[in-house]
Amino acid sequence: MRKPLMAGNWKMYKTPADTRAFFEKFLPLVAGSKHCDILICPPFVSIAAAVEAARGSAVAIGGQNLHYVTKDGAYTGEVSGPMLKAAGCASVIVGHSERRQYFGETDATVLQRTLAALESGLQPVVCVGERLEEREAGRTEDVLATQFKDGIAKLTPEQFAQIVIAYEPVWAIGTGKVATPKMAADAHRALRARIEQAYGKAAAAAARILYGGSAKPDNVKGLMAQPDIDGALVGGASLEASSFSLIVNF
Ligand code: 13P
Repeated sequence: MRKPLMAGNWKMYKTPADTRAFFEKFLPLVAGSKHCDILICPPFVSIAAAVEAARGSAVAIGGQNLHYVTKDGAYTGEVSGPMLKAAGCASVIVGHSERRQYFGETDATVLQRTLAALESGLQPVVCVGERLEEREAGRTEDVLATQFKDGIAKLTPEQFAQIVIAYEPVWAIGTGKVATPKMAADAHRALRARIEQAYGKAAAAAARILYGGSAKPDNVKGLMAQPDIDGALVGGASLEASSFSLIVNF
């Protein structure tokens, strides 16, 4: 009943020209892929090229971040939700661990940005996940519970129904160390239990939770076999049309 979502986070990769070249190869490979939603999140400067290249296809385009102020203003270097929307974005990643680690993002600002995305008509893909030392200390479920409580659970039920959650264990991002399907499934189950507690059974059953962290063509099948995993948020393996199409068509 939950349609999978396969999302690519291109991070700080790909110029507009690279973006056009990617779509030329990628679109034919996923033209028949109706079993899932497909989203690609290029850097801001390549969004226009991606929107143009994906026009007429089922591939949606998203931002990787947005400012939490939705009105125009003097915020040098920032991009607003309404700007992303006007540029053709459908979604936006919020609270990625790289934003938390390098740019001071906290659960409180994640919530502000999520609200800004919703107000702008964008679907937020809200990222949570534990760091290695937290996992090793046996604190994974506590960390997820706190990130959920402070960053997500303050949304109204109507707002919550519009978001996607991405579970991205920080130690698995860009390291080649994928969480085992069981580790990922345990975390997704814990998150779904939080959702049920906060929003009820139906909301928990409807919520899409993606896995992110070294997802690759050769491990995606095992991850997607877990009933609580509803898709993937893919970094490195989304940069090549061939590998990302294999993930989409798991
Ligand atoms: P990798 O797939 O490169 O590990 O990155 C995952 C990620 O951070 C997606 O947002």
